[in-house]
Amino acid sequence: MKTVMAVLLSVMMLLLGTACGAGTSAGKGGSGEARPTAAMKDSKEALPLKEKKVMSVKLNSGYEMPVIGLGTWTQNNVTAAESVYFALKNGYRLIDTARYYGNEKGVGEGLKRAISEKIVARKDVFITSKIMPGNYNNAASAIEASLRDLDIDYLDLMLIHQPESNDKAVYQAMEQAVKNGKIRSIGISNYYTRKQVEEVLSYATIVPAVIQNENHIFYQNAELQDFVKPYGIVIESWYPFGGRGNTKENFENKTVTAIAQAHGRTPAQIILRWQIQAGYVAVPGSANPNHIAENIAVFDFSLSAEEMKKIAGLNKHQRYENW
Ligand SMILES: NC(=O)c1ccc[n+]([C@@H]2O[C@H](COP(=O)([O-])OP(=O)(O)OC[C@H]3O[C@@H](n4cnc5c(N)ncnc54)[C@H](OP(=O)(O)O)[C@@H]3O)[C@@H](O)[C@H]2O)c1
Repeated sequence: MKTVMAVLLSVMMLLLGTACGAGTSAGKGGSGEARPTAAMKDSKEALPLKEKKVMSVKLNSGYEMPVIGLGTWTQNNVTAAESVYFALKNGYRLIDTARYYGNEKGVGEGLKRAISEKIVARKDVFITSKIMPGNYNNAASAIEASLRDLDIDYLDLMLIHQPESNDKAVYQAMEQAVKNGKIRSIGISNYYTRKQVEEVLSYATIVPAVIQNENHIFYQNAELQDFVKPYGIVIESWYPFGGRGNTKENFENKTVTAIAQAHGRTPAQIILRWQIQAGYVAVPGSANPNHIAENIAVFDFSLSAEEMKKIAGLNKHQRYENW
């Protein structure tokens, strides 16, 4: 009987894994439209925490992107190396950095350590960096600099950090890097309006795979998400907790704490679960091992439609930043 149950369980896990891309490598999974919302909505797709597998979404580039990752803003090379290593050891497969953060070397060190200890293979990890267009007249050399500091052969995702007058040239340099095999997927960050996105789409020969924006319970990107869905573009959230100095307001929100209590989870976990069920990718930032472990433990429970609706109702269109 025990054996039959074990086989049944394995078959179920296999089916669930296939349905949501759970545990797949960050590699190419074939072509097809990204279906983040559909993939995340089925509560049966929640995985046992002990599996340490992260759900992923298929991008319009054909590559799989984990839906939860580690954000590294404010971390230096030393703390980034530690937190990236710890995160990879605890099941993370997506790391977010930027040339602007000055910690690409540290991120690369953390990755190398995890690879050398056989915790991960390079192909299983999705590394994102960003180019601040105003800082680089030569975007091609900025891409090379990121690859050199991270000490990797290719980036899984490169984003334009924010709109600037020369973002078209930067976008085209990223497209060229895709053709040269140096970047797998490209995207944009801090493009909030339909007009801004349409501008990029007007010259893009490769449709952006991701838009990384400020996106939290008080500033939800739902309208933009609806607009970009037909293009297979996935919205990735920065400041999923509102960012430093604002987390209290997010974590102590009454709706969030009530839902947290009902599930026996932390407010941070409820917010992240909302993010992924709403079809977003989120990169919570932390250098605290307890928080890093807590933030990935969101694949073994799910929010009801009613709870999702309540959190959607918290949107005040209130950003914390102005870039
Ligand atoms: N594209 C852009 O323009 C842009 C802009 C900003 C950020 N980003 C990216 O997005 C990532 C996320 O943003 P962020 O890190 O600034 O803000 P965030 O993720 O909203 O919040 C980070 C804050 O939350 C705390 N925290 C994390 N997990 C927690 C938990 N489980 N319980 C309690 N506190 C917790 C962290 O403190 P501890 O360190 O103590 O855990 C830190 O103070 C960045 O790291 C970066 O990679 C991109």
